[in-house]
Amino acid sequence: MKSPKNSRKTPIAATGMTRRALLAAGAAGLFAAAGAAPADAPLRRRAAARGMVYGACAGSYQLRDGEYAAALADEANALVPEYELKRSIVEPRPGVLDFSGADALVDFAGEHGMLMRGHTLVWYASNPPWLEQAALKAKDERIFTDYIAQVVGRYRGRIRSWDVVNEAILTSDGRADGLRDNFWLRRFGPGYIDTAFDAASRADPSAQLVYNDWGCEGSEPWNDDFRRATLRLLEGMRKRGVPMHAYGMQAHFRAFRKPVFPDAKKLRSFLAEVKDLGLRLMVSELDVDDAGGPSDDGRRDAIVADITARFLDPVMQSGICDAVLTWGLTDRYLRGKIIPTDLWAYLPRKLPLDARLRRKPMWHAIAKALG
Ligand code: XIL
Repeated sequence: MKSPKNSRKTPIAATGMTRRALLAAGAAGLFAAAGAAPADAPLRRRAAARGMVYGACAGSYQLRDGEYAAALADEANALVPEYELKRSIVEPRPGVLDFSGADALVDFAGEHGMLMRGHTLVWYASNPPWLEQAALKAKDERIFTDYIAQVVGRYRGRIRSWDVVNEAILTSDGRADGLRDNFWLRRFGPGYIDTAFDAASRADPSAQLVYNDWGCEGSEPWNDDFRRATLRLLEGMRKRGVPMHAYGMQAHFRAFRKPVFPDAKKLRSFLAEVKDLGLRLMVSELDVDDAGGPSDDGRRDAIVADITARFLDPVMQSGICDAVLTWGLTDRYLRGKIIPTDLWAYLPRKLPLDARLRRKPMWHAIAKALG
């Protein structure tokens, strides 16, 4: 589908999608962005003092937990649904759209002056069971462009930043372009990515449109492959004038089992190239999996915090980071994901607040990075 001329020719600034506009929308109603934050200031305050936002993903069911909802409102000025804007939840049956969960989260964000993010419009995962076959048999891209128009259109002006395409790269699939061999690619070719962004831009020309993925954070050779493929994708999109404004770096780390540690030197170089492309950065899903760690909470927490700090240092130095979101605010809701180890099962401790909403060393590492 040919995109209308204007969506390809509109430079980012002309869309009104300037960093200040995005952050003003997200931090609106909060304290003045100027001025340093006091020592025990919440993360949202520290972020706003730098013209940024801090937030977390949440499930709408969690908002029924009053003390959690209060902690979220206190710490965050950005919010993203963990589930409620995935197509498996929004469109369980063809053409039957359910926004009840997303509406609850968008309303909460609006009530608390938070930047609301949408996650995610086109992904190979978290789709309803009918979608893959429908896409493979579809006669054109409307199977996803119509969906994007409906979803982005519904939240126009309220969801200010979208993960339009999620995880389109997987270099181990062996393609020269490093793209993941998913059903979208098989039916529509690599152009499905540009088409999705064009559709999102038409539905809300003022929204920040983000390409979200993992794989560029670490020090392994496969991370080098991911960084090369990611930069190739981003550069191509910029050259074609695709309305894509930021790279979403998921930032899922592992501290002990099959460790994934940040490589500061390679991150600095990668983020400098992202900056040279005129793109912004969203840290979109930060967490540090502590499965397989020592039995002592304090030791696990210290290592999780150290990895967090080693990642955020080059991120903040890049000068292009508008947002840091963790993939959850508290360990409380990880309870159902007890990870058995060879010694014993324990509750994961991968997020800034513990299950009793107390600030952990990871919280302090984020607070220090935000200043
Ligand atoms: C995950 C959720 O956290 C899980 O609870 C769910 O079962 C699957 O999706 N990258 C993403 C997120 O973009 O949407 C994923 O979230 C984690 C990996």
